[in-house]
Amino acid sequence: MKALVLGASGATGKLAVRQLAQRGIEVRALLREGASLGEEPIDLASVEVRRGSIAELDQAALAGLVEGCDAIVSCLGHNITLKGIYGAPRLLVRGAIQGCCEALRRGGGGKRKLVLMSTTASEDRELREARSAAERAILAALTLVLPPHRDNIAAATYLAEVVGRDDPAIEWVAVRPDGLVDAPSPSPSPYELYEAPRRSPLFDPGKTSRVNVAAFMAELLAKGELWETWKGRMPVIYDAGQAAGRDA
Ligand SMILES: NC(=O)c1ccc[n+]([C@@H]2O[C@H](COP(=O)([O-])OP(=O)(O)OC[C@H]3O[C@@H](n4cnc5c(N)ncnc54)[C@H](OP(=O)(O)O)[C@@H]3O)[C@@H](O)[C@H]2O)c1
Repeated sequence: MKALVLGASGATGKLAVRQLAQRGIEVRALLREGASLGEEPIDLASVEVRRGSIAELDQAALAGLVEGCDAIVSCLGHNITLKGIYGAPRLLVRGAIQGCCEALRRGGGGKRKLVLMSTTASEDRELREARSAAERAILAALTLVLPPHRDNIAAATYLAEVVGRDDPAIEWVAVRPDGLVDAPSPSPSPYELYEAPRRSPLFDPGKTSRVNVAAFMAELLAKGELWETWKGRMPVIYDAGQAAGRDA
């Protein structure tokens, strides 16, 4: 299997590249000029690096990028700078996901897998997730004032509502970590998966280590049974012991 990793230079993306490679999955990593895969050891023989910005690729370049890949893993996110938050492209993640999905459809060749790193701020609308009025009001306000928040929601919504569950070219999973943290160890630790958030993403977020997110995304591609369990869904991931919030 070969997976295209978007956002491969990011804090989670670097870990995802390693977790995939450790499971024998070949990686094609898209890196912007000057970006790197990090300094932690990695078997570079299993990683093909392509240079470019996903936001600037035309149709032909996107087709070439996804060609030969069985899966796409997106760890894209806006840089936390004024330019990253308020500059273009405001729909970085949604644009990348849509562009890749359209390239996969045009390319034909059967179903490919797409794993999106999303957030607990995104809602699986099919589940009618429990949210207080205050949470709904604040999340709606954040959507107005914070473009990266709007973009993250739009990317997950695109998968759920435009791609759906019957697309001939794409199966997807939107992985929803709660509050991201960097674990001291480069190895994954036990984590828990739920179909909906167990704590308030706004008022009482739990911790989710980036390496655990990376490991789960790689496991999804490595284990067919796990993929079948979560395809077309938006699993929430917490580090073990973090699922019970303050009010539990
Ligand atoms: N913070 C939280 O608690 C939390 C919780 C759940 C989910 N999330 C979401 O999880 C995702 C990943 O988080 P992270 O911390 O691992 O991300 P990160 O370290 O900020 O990495 C972002 C990646 O996106 C790339 N990127 C940024 N702007 C780009 C642009 N204009 N064009 C092309 N590539 C661009 C970066 O490339 P360069 O290295 O070239 O800049 C980098 O590879 C984000 O969407 C974040 O919102 C966050």
